[in-house]
Amino acid sequence: MSTGALVDTFGRTATDLRVSLTDRCNLRCSYCMPAEGLDWLPTEQTLTDDEVIRLIRIGVEQLGIEEVRFTGGEPLVRRGLVDIVRRTKELTPSPETSLTTNALGLTRTAAALAEAGLDRVNVSLDTIRREHFHEITRRDRLDDVVSGLEAAQAAGLGPVKVNAVLLRGINDDQGPELLRWCLERGYQLRFIEQMPLDAQHGWRRDTMITADEILASLEAEFELTPAEEPRGSAPAELFAVDGGPATVGVIASVTRPFCGDCDRVRLTADGQVRNCLFAREESDLRVALRGGASDDEIAERWRAAMITKRPGHGIDDVSFLQPTRPMSAIGG
Ligand code: 5AD
Ligand code: SF4
Repeated sequence: MSTGALVDTFGRTATDLRVSLTDRCNLRCSYCMPAEGLDWLPTEQTLTDDEVIRLIRIGVEQLGIEEVRFTGGEPLVRRGLVDIVRRTKELTPSPETSLTTNALGLTRTAAALAEAGLDRVNVSLDTIRREHFHEITRRDRLDDVVSGLEAAQAAGLGPVKVNAVLLRGINDDQGPELLRWCLERGYQLRFIEQMPLDAQHGWRRDTMITADEILASLEAEFELTPAEEPRGSAPAELFAVDGGPATVGVIASVTRPFCGDCDRVRLTADGQVRNCLFAREESDLRVALRGGASDDEIAERWRAAMITKRPGHGIDDVSFLQPTRPMSAIGG
């Protein structure tokens, strides 16, 4: 068995694997998808549960993957999710596992996911006002998200994190309100700067809400102090709220990029390795997988896929080109 980490030419090592289990979703967040949805991946191109597990196993056994995050689209719509989580946790060494989800349907599966060994969830929630939730996601499902969050907390899938995107003219004045709501419930809130990853190419640098604006709006109502703990490769910059211990995070991918400390690698639902969220090329592992390649050969292809990882995403460069696949097909 060959071993050797996923190292790129800038000395970064990927240990955090983000696995997109489907490109489908039951919401239509405006910063992600058009109202009518997208052309979903055909079933035959989507990796089966066994194929997903084989790739994760190779990642864990041969490539130094320590943490597996399941994403989508919406991973809860993938039928085999609980089983995939269980089989991932059974690998040696057993990786940390988490789920990035919109929480729809989590009331039904939270306990089973926890029992299967899932460690944590990150729930996307941009507003606690029903009409704004409907406007942003194009679905009237706020109550289901709120009960999904409660179910995750009750099942022990914590610390429960909430991811929020602020959109100018829609919910950009709701940061403090959302933070207060999360603090009351013991959820860790992190604001994510809107990134150019929507299928409709509607992102604009001059209208996005920046980390500076987010922090200024929070500081009008809370006292924020930079958190003590070292940030490491974590994308979120953490601040203690009103002296702590509660914290709030800001993920400033655009205005304060953290690419130099990146430890992430992504696998799409159709078996492509992406060395960056913003990569413009992918490396096909599905064809190798289905063509009878050995574990060693797949591991070698995966290592080779890291060589083209660029030093940074370059969103602020004039030459920046948005990736051809949208967020829902890549996974956060
Ligand atoms: N910019 C920032 N965050 C996004 N997300 C989805 N699309 C975008 C975007 N264009 C968020 C989701 C979820 C996580 C996977 O990324 O809300 O929390
Ligand atoms: Fe890593 Fe790419 Fe994100 Fe930079 S943009 S932090 S390289 S995934």
